[in-house]
Amino acid sequence: MNRLWMGALIIGSWMVYGLAYSQDPLEIASQPDIEQGRDIYRIHCQECHGTEGHGDGPRAPMLAPRPGNLVSAATSAKTDEELLAILAVGVPRTAMRGWRDQLSNDERRNVLAYVRSLVHFQESPSTPLPPP
Ligand code: HEC
Repeated sequence: MNRLWMGALIIGSWMVYGLAYSQDPLEIASQPDIEQGRDIYRIHCQECHGTEGHGDGPRAPMLAPRPGNLVSAATSAKTDEELLAILAVGVPRTAMRGWRDQLSNDERRNVLAYVRSLVHFQESPSTPLPPP
């Protein structure tokens, strides 16, 4: 009986360990594909948001409200969940429509990953600071 308990304990802890530390295959499969995101961005988003995401695409001057600067602090500070919700349903009363029908969940995640990759911030200034 004692041995049985020991066995159960060992197998049990092995399973818990396995669950906790195994690499979840879904997790691996769901790494965003930034390359695909870039292609989607160029096809669907660039005309409004601009090549670098500054909100200066060729269609931007014709729109009010103007397309957002996607590398702004305001956009960067939003969580993935918030931005994915915007990508799904759009922004009310703006030209930003929802992409749920045209882009799959993965495609929206990938294009978001690309947008995030346009944001460069660094700890040391790359250009000299302006004189005081
Ligand atoms: C027809 C022009 C247009 C197109 C095409 C377009 N957008 Fe937008 N987008 C806008 C406008 C206008 C807004 C609203 C202004 C704002 O929120 O800054 C906006 C808002 C957003 C926001 C919200 C920013 C924030 O901080 O809330 C994100 C993210 C975004 N767009 C991403 C995309 C992506 C990714 C695509 C391509 C799949 C795309 N947009 C295509 C015009 C466009």
